[in-house]
Amino acid sequence: MKIAVLTSGGDSPGMNCAIRSIVRGGIHFGHEVYGIYRGYAGLIAGEIAPLKLSDVGNILQRGGTILRSSRCKEFLTVEGRKQAYHQLKKFQIDAMITIGGDGTFNGANALYKEFPFPMVGIPGTIDNDITGTDYTIGFETAVENAIEAIDKIRDTALSHDRVFLVEVMGKNSPALAERIAVCSGAEMAILPHKVIPYEEIYAVIQRGLNRGKRSSIFVVAEGQTSGRGQEIKEEIFKKFQIDSHVCILGHIQRGGSPTAQDRFFATQMGLKAVEELHAEQVKEPIVTIVKQSQIQVTNLKNCLLKKIIADDSIAKSISITSI
Ligand code: F6P
Repeated sequence: MKIAVLTSGGDSPGMNCAIRSIVRGGIHFGHEVYGIYRGYAGLIAGEIAPLKLSDVGNILQRGGTILRSSRCKEFLTVEGRKQAYHQLKKFQIDAMITIGGDGTFNGANALYKEFPFPMVGIPGTIDNDITGTDYTIGFETAVENAIEAIDKIRDTALSHDRVFLVEVMGKNSPALAERIAVCSGAEMAILPHKVIPYEEIYAVIQRGLNRGKRSSIFVVAEGQTSGRGQEIKEEIFKKFQIDSHVCILGHIQRGGSPTAQDRFFATQMGLKAVEELHAEQVKEPIVTIVKQSQIQVTNLKNCLLKKIIADDSIAKSISITSI
């Protein structure tokens, strides 16, 4: 078989580990592996080339994706997908592995509906917001990156008796903000899909003031509109005359060397994808998933939605442990 692999949407640390195990696993089972560069944009443009064992040497520990990525508007059109399918046929590709988030999977699903083709998805996004899987590659590294930054912010916050509003990624997904807030000892996670809960924020600040707390940290998910941190800062000033500070972590969270957990799940899912194709078990598109720490597969249909529901028990634990 000729198996092609692409990475699409926001890059995530660990994508390279999956690419490495697809190439090494594919060659191990006697197949040829091709890289599609720049995600669906590169597929449409025919940026496809063979990957050898040595092409994936020394990439396990590297963040980003050696195949590069894109958010491709053209792939949202039938014409774009037709051109993509044409390229797959032209390069005589027999099966495609797509690594990415919900946009990537919805793109694969649209392609399959019009031009049925063996496909396996691997969940790769720092947001950990794909239905059907407990885990997506890159989440843990992004959380670690944010915690490392917040630990440093805490040093200066304590020294100056300051309130910090730390903006983290996740336009739609609450998972990053929730996990980061628990692990950094923040007062509260202000989630992306909700109206900013000012009364709760004020109550938390007041609680801190009452017990003589001199500094505090709030984790703010960036949400759909940028500048949420600044907006909250202004309201806090109006209410308490406290001059809080905003720190936007931004894309720093998406970079850097993947953690052991990201390397492990990415490697295992990459290999699983190849094994399923090798066993010729892929009739309809499937996705490799993590369920209770085990690698499994499920139908792509089960992984097309975003998880946007906040976990109330996490909010409760943040509130209790930060008092
Ligand atoms: O999907 C991953 C993610 O990093 C989100 O957390 C974030 O909201 C978004 O991508 C940012 O996208 P971009 O890098 O295209 O601005």
